[in-house]
Amino acid sequence: MGLLDGKLAVVTGGGSGIGRATARRMTEEGARVAVLDLDGDSAQVVADEIDGLAYEVDVRDAEAVKSAVGDAAAKLGGLHAMFNNAGISTIGRIHELKLDDWHRVVDVNLHGVFHGIRAAVPIMLAGGGGSIVSTSSISGTNPAAGESAYSAAKYAVIALTKNAAIEYGPTIRVNAVAPGYIHTAMTNPIVEHFGAHSDHIVGITPAGRIGEPEDVADVVVFLSSDLARFVTGQTLIVDGGLALRGSVVDGVLDTLTGERA
Ligand SMILES: NC(=O)c1ccc[n+]([C@@H]2O[C@H](COP(=O)([O-])OP(=O)(O)OC[C@H]3O[C@@H](n4cnc5c(N)ncnc54)[C@H](O)[C@@H]3O)[C@@H](O)[C@H]2O)c1
Repeated sequence: MGLLDGKLAVVTGGGSGIGRATARRMTEEGARVAVLDLDGDSAQVVADEIDGLAYEVDVRDAEAVKSAVGDAAAKLGGLHAMFNNAGISTIGRIHELKLDDWHRVVDVNLHGVFHGIRAAVPIMLAGGGGSIVSTSSISGTNPAAGESAYSAAKYAVIALTKNAAIEYGPTIRVNAVAPGYIHTAMTNPIVEHFGAHSDHIVGITPAGRIGEPEDVADVVVFLSSDLARFVTGQTLIVDGGLALRGSVVDGVLDTLTGERA
């Protein structure tokens, strides 16, 4: 028997990394999953693999998210789990950051989560319940220089999670995950170009390694399942203990610019 037997789920950013791993793990645990991604091809590849549904959607577009989530719920026969996970990052000092970059990062990482919650709630309320999980980051709890847009958005996801948990309990549980340094397309450039930085991170991580997408996916499955029936409004840090020591991008800005502010 799976942890999500008979459950119907939507995963945003499901075409890669943490979202792809979660779509796979949810399916292994018995769920039917709809994969939403800006990259329609990668969404389709994952959907084909898990016998799910694929939607090419930009989470910045509230109407597109609502329409895709509604269509998926109609085709799958309901909605029990929503994973708002699509995200992007940028790096630069606050006064040098391009306004477009600030708006794009906040739009995807915060407004995208807001749009996902708005789309899922009416369907879950009508269906009698559900679980929403969103992806924050340890950058939302331990910001580093150069991460302003990303950190602000990820911190806001934690606040939005608490807010939604209060508004929609007891029918809907709402939680977040805050991954640490996870090996995905997002962090590949750091691994490739800042090898010494990665070695440093591994060295200060109590778990002694960089995380894999499945490390986060398993926690999302837990939060989406009845095992977490008394857990709501929480942000679960999934970082092998790294946040006990500091931020993932500590020092990256200095390395990039060759100077300290
Ligand atoms: N990798 C890490 O170390 C790490 C750490 C903390 C938090 N996170 C967060 O985890 C989440 C997943 O990131 P990942 O590491 O798996 O990266 P990833 O790049 O592998 O996956 C992100 C996915 O989101 C999709 N996406 C981007 N913009 C989108 C948009 N506007 N609309 C719909 N889909 C969009 C991408 O196409 C991609 O498939 C993000 O929210 C990220 O901020 C990652």
